[in-house]
Amino acid sequence: SAAALVAASLLGSADHFTTSWEARCDRSCAASSRPKRGRSMRVRSGVLCPLLAVGSMAMAQAPKPKGDAIFDSIERMQARIGRPWGRFLDAGTGRHSLHWISTIETEAWTAVTAAQEMAVQSRDSVRGAMREQDRVVVGNWDDDTFLEGETFDVILADYLIGAMDGFSPYKQDLIFERLQRHLAEDGILYIVGLEPIPDSGAGAADVICEVRRMRDAMILLAGHRCYREYPIEWIYRQCRRSGFEVMESLKFPILYSRASITRQLDVGRRKLPLIRSRHGAATALALSQACDALQHRIDDATNFSKVSPSGVTADTRIRFGFDYVMVCQRSGRRGKDAEDVVKDAEDV
Ligand SMILES: C[S@@+](CC[C@H](N)C(=O)[O-])C[C@H]1O[C@@H](n2cnc3c(N)ncnc32)[C@H](O)[C@@H]1O
Repeated sequence: SAAALVAASLLGSADHFTTSWEARCDRSCAASSRPKRGRSMRVRSGVLCPLLAVGSMAMAQAPKPKGDAIFDSIERMQARIGRPWGRFLDAGTGRHSLHWISTIETEAWTAVTAAQEMAVQSRDSVRGAMREQDRVVVGNWDDDTFLEGETFDVILADYLIGAMDGFSPYKQDLIFERLQRHLAEDGILYIVGLEPIPDSGAGAADVICEVRRMRDAMILLAGHRCYREYPIEWIYRQCRRSGFEVMESLKFPILYSRASITRQLDVGRRKLPLIRSRHGAATALALSQACDALQHRIDDATNFSKVSPSGVTADTRIRFGFDYVMVCQRSGRRGKDAEDVVKDAEDV
C-alpha cells in the first residue's frame, strides 16, 4: 500500500545531501540565512507509490537541476506526476521559496507570510519576475476567513510548520485541514521541514546540539519565541489524520560546515543587546563568553585552521540530521482514515 511504501521511505537510507541549517529561529525570519542546499550526491533508488509511478514517468521530461536539492527534487516529482504547476500557493513564503517559484511555469502564484517584513523581502527577491497575476499576501492561517474560497493546484509548505510557533502557536495541527481546504480536487501538497535536532549527538556532531541549545536559550532570554520543528513521523501522522494520502517522502541528510554552525551561534549572539537590557550586563557577558567557548568547540569539531598534508586548510563537514519533503494528495477516504487513527490511539 502507499502507506507501507511511505513507511519504507521513512526508514529508508539517505538520498541527498544538503548543506543547510536554517536560521529559522528568529521569530520574524528576518535573520534567516538559508544557504543553498548542496547538490544531490546520490540518486534515490525510488520509493514511489503507484500514483506517482503510473504512466507519467515516460512522458515526463526530467527538469534541469537548479542547485537546490529540495526544490530540484520537487520539480522532478511534479514532472513524474505529470501535472502542470497551475495555480500555486506558497503557504509560508520567503526569499528562497519565492525565488524558486518564479523560475517554474505557474499560471499564477500566491505567496503568504504572516510578517510584513518577510513580504517586503519576498517581493524584492522576485523583482522583475513578478507578473500581474502573482501576489504576496500578508495574513495568518489562524484567521478562518483568510483566502476564503480560494483553491490551488499545488501548495508548498516550505518550513511553514516549524515557523508557526512564532505566529499562531499551538495551532500547528490545524494547518493540515486548513491547507486541504485550499487544495484543488487533484492538487498536490509538498511539505518541507527540518527533523528536530536531538539533545545530543555522537562525536563531532554533539557541538551542533550544543549550539542549538545555546541559540534557543538566548532567543528565549531575549523574550522571543523559538521555532519548533516537527519530526517526519509527526507530519506523516497529521497528514493521514486530516485525510491526505502521502504519496512519497524524501530525506535530505545535512552536511554542517563551520560556517553554517557558526551562523546559528550568531543568531544567539545577535540577541545579546536585548539580553543585556532584560537581564543585565553580567548575564550578557557570561553568555557572550559561553558563545566564544562554543566557537572553539565548533572550530575543533570541523578541524578549522588545521592544515592538511596537501597544504589546504581543512574544514571538515559533519553529517547530521536531515531535512524532508512529504508529497500528499487528497485521499477521498477521510472518514475511514480518521476511524483507523482513532482505533489505533485507543489500542495504545
Ligand atoms: C521559515 S519562513 C519560510 C521560509 C521560506 N519558505 C523561504 O524559502 O525563505 C516561514 C514563513 O511562514 C510564515 N508563517 C508562519 N506561521 C504562519 C501563519 N500562522 N500564518 C501565515 N504565515 C505563517 C512566516 O511568516 C514566514 O513567511
